[in-house]
Amino acid sequence: MKDKLTQPFAFVIFGGSGDLSRRKLLPALHHLAALGYMPEKYAVVGASRTPMSDEDYREFVRTAIEEHEQAEHESPAADSLLKSVYYLAGDTAKPETFIDLQRRLDALDKDLGLGGNRAYYLAVAPDLTPMIVKNLAARGMLTQREGSWIRVVFEKPFGRDLESARKLNEEIRQVLTEEQIYRIDHYLGKETVQNILSFRFGNSIFEPLFNRTHVNSIRITVAESEGMGGRRGEYYDTAGALRDIVQNHILQLLCLIAMEPPASFRAESIRDEKVKVLHALPAMSPKEVAESTVRGQYHGYRNEKGVNPNSTTETYVAIRTSIDNWRWSGVPVLIQTGKRLWTRLTDIEIDFNQVPLCLFHQFADCPPNANKLVMRIQPDEGISLSFVAKQPGTSFVLQDVNMDFSYGKTFGQRLPEAYERLLLDVLRGDPSLFTRSDEVELAWQFITRILEGWSKLPPPEFPNYEPGSRGPAEASRLLNPSQIRRQ
Ligand code: BG6
Repeated sequence: MKDKLTQPFAFVIFGGSGDLSRRKLLPALHHLAALGYMPEKYAVVGASRTPMSDEDYREFVRTAIEEHEQAEHESPAADSLLKSVYYLAGDTAKPETFIDLQRRLDALDKDLGLGGNRAYYLAVAPDLTPMIVKNLAARGMLTQREGSWIRVVFEKPFGRDLESARKLNEEIRQVLTEEQIYRIDHYLGKETVQNILSFRFGNSIFEPLFNRTHVNSIRITVAESEGMGGRRGEYYDTAGALRDIVQNHILQLLCLIAMEPPASFRAESIRDEKVKVLHALPAMSPKEVAESTVRGQYHGYRNEKGVNPNSTTETYVAIRTSIDNWRWSGVPVLIQTGKRLWTRLTDIEIDFNQVPLCLFHQFADCPPNANKLVMRIQPDEGISLSFVAKQPGTSFVLQDVNMDFSYGKTFGQRLPEAYERLLLDVLRGDPSLFTRSDEVELAWQFITRILEGWSKLPPPEFPNYEPGSRGPAEASRLLNPSQIRRQ
């Protein structure tokens, strides 16, 4: 099959029995195996503190796959992956664990003929990451030998502000080359996110409109209806919506929507253009932060498991900003994300300018937002374009109508999970859909100014929105289209 992996490898998951492994990584590996992408020889090694044998872990993996398949209504077919699964129990803060791991990996290399190729996936709490990298390096486990490769995948959060992200980058670059580093942002693995570039640069009719002359505003929404689900409170309370979603997923969406055409489709060309968008984000002053951001926290958040009962962590944020470059100067960029909102929805709305003159006003008002392009990232994946049409009849009464592309109707096939594509890319050595160090740092630079601005403001009056609502009332004022029309 096309894209089938040919080189053998060991895929080591630190945090192999954790939530991310159970919900995303193991089901993704299973799909890759079931779809025939895996090479003849490979091993998946889970590493975690929980004491377990290989057999116990295989059971854990089987359950993870079955839970996921049930959710997707597919038949379980775990066997092709399970025979390649192994486990190592150990505390990753202790150097001894890495002696055991090295022995185990060397033995698997020898027994299965894995050629020394290794990918280490750090699905662990962020504070454990530097220690794991240090321990791997200390045992020479990050050094690539002639003809083999070693890659390390870093889960988000990559730092918690500009300073910590820079420090982490510095630390890992002492022991890894940039080509070995895969900083994951799973949004980039979504089909609909990758399609932004095909839509913009594979069609001649849209791209000429993507600029300040024609666009009135760009709006990115990542709304989630769920809260902490009884398992994420502890992490989330240290992060908040700005760090959890805006710093990575939303700024990546913005880069793809706003970037210039890359010189080629090579990873570095695409990353170079994304970086230029991040450079053009304004550094907000504390006054601008006060005026252009709204924070929220839903009622009941403080009672969630793992959350501080007096928490001031934001579960919602709205930001009004801009991209200060030639193409986009003056176009408002509206961002909103939050937990426990009215629905689960990620989309990008490009609102186009009004016609210069409403010729039909003697019949009825001209609709204010006639032309809007909506990219539905999830769910109900697709793209729609709205325009006005004359209602059948004797006068010129206009009505909004839609042209709609739906993935489901057009392709009629399951969209691969983001992690499937990303794990495949790690294993074949393609970093295009991963973030480079400068991207991460520039994203943090924008976010850190907002965090600093907030730290100078009086503490927010939380909770301030109802679960199931559209977020704090103040936010709808900030994002209100009638206030964002450019003159
Ligand atoms: C993760 C965040 O990166 O993305 C979560 O940490 C969030 O808080 C999740 O729920 C959303 O991902 P998706 O793919 O469900 O939109």
